[in-house]
Amino acid sequence: MNERDMMLTAILKCRPVDLIAEPPALTRRQEAAFNRMQARRLSGEPLQYILRSCDFMGVELTVDPRVLIPRPETEILVEKALERAKTLAARKELRILDLGTGSGNIAIAMAKYLPNCSVTAVDIDPRALSLARRNAAANGVDSSISFCQEDMTVFLSRAAEEEKQYDIIVSNPPYIAAPQLPHLPIEVRFEPQAALDGGMDGLKFYRGIIARAHRLIRPGGYLLLEIGDGQVKDIERIFVSYEQYHQLNFTKDYAGTDRVVCAQVKGKLKNG
Ligand SMILES: C[S@@+](CC[C@H](N)C(=O)[O-])C[C@H]1O[C@@H](n2cnc3c(N)ncnc32)[C@H](O)[C@@H]1O
Repeated sequence: MNERDMMLTAILKCRPVDLIAEPPALTRRQEAAFNRMQARRLSGEPLQYILRSCDFMGVELTVDPRVLIPRPETEILVEKALERAKTLAARKELRILDLGTGSGNIAIAMAKYLPNCSVTAVDIDPRALSLARRNAAANGVDSSISFCQEDMTVFLSRAAEEEKQYDIIVSNPPYIAAPQLPHLPIEVRFEPQAALDGGMDGLKFYRGIIARAHRLIRPGGYLLLEIGDGQVKDIERIFVSYEQYHQLNFTKDYAGTDRVVCAQVKGKLKNG
């Protein structure tokens, strides 16, 4: 379906097939709404914000400028996390931590496809969290997810002191190097800056997460991270400086770029 038809089905609240069966006759109000949508799109605003909707792994999400628009590459991160979760299936209830949850896409997909899990979803932005909560409820998984508004590194340090334990920690953190931010395509500039800004070299969040996550992951559990273009060597270097991790594994995206890293925390897998 092209963008014009997506706008029309949203305005007419009809199915794509209805547009083919009968060419749409718009009322004046609907025509005005269509023109407004087209003008926003021409200004560079992403279609998903205009339609306030996005599909992520078969999960329907509301999106608006409070949150990053979930990317198809992030589905690879979730697929890998689900694969790892299967290897831990003998554990009674899988405990998952999603750092920088945004729209809630990762947390909600994990909760939907892993019925025996509980997810904690952290984000620093209260506006993003309120949308994530709404998305969780709309997808019927709100009872499996608890949301927490906190800086992710503060959360990790505090949770370690409280001796919290997770089977899987997953994150798609902000990973654009700050000097690159003004040069991003116009569409990306509509998205929240805090969802993109990974510090001067784009690696700030990886350092913070990798340094702390191993204290919270049960032996045999996993840390999975989405990574930015060209960051693979730096991220490998950060991981190998912590002896607590092993089995480092990278997965490429559809364009052949290393996009997801998975590491296992050493120690014997325990069930229960
Ligand atoms: C790249 S977006 C990912 C959003 C979503 N998980 C996804 O995959 O589309 C990063 C998220 O991290 C959040 N964030 C940024 N800085 C943070 C921090 N210091 N602590 C916690 N969350 C943070 C942003 O608000 C944003 O929602």
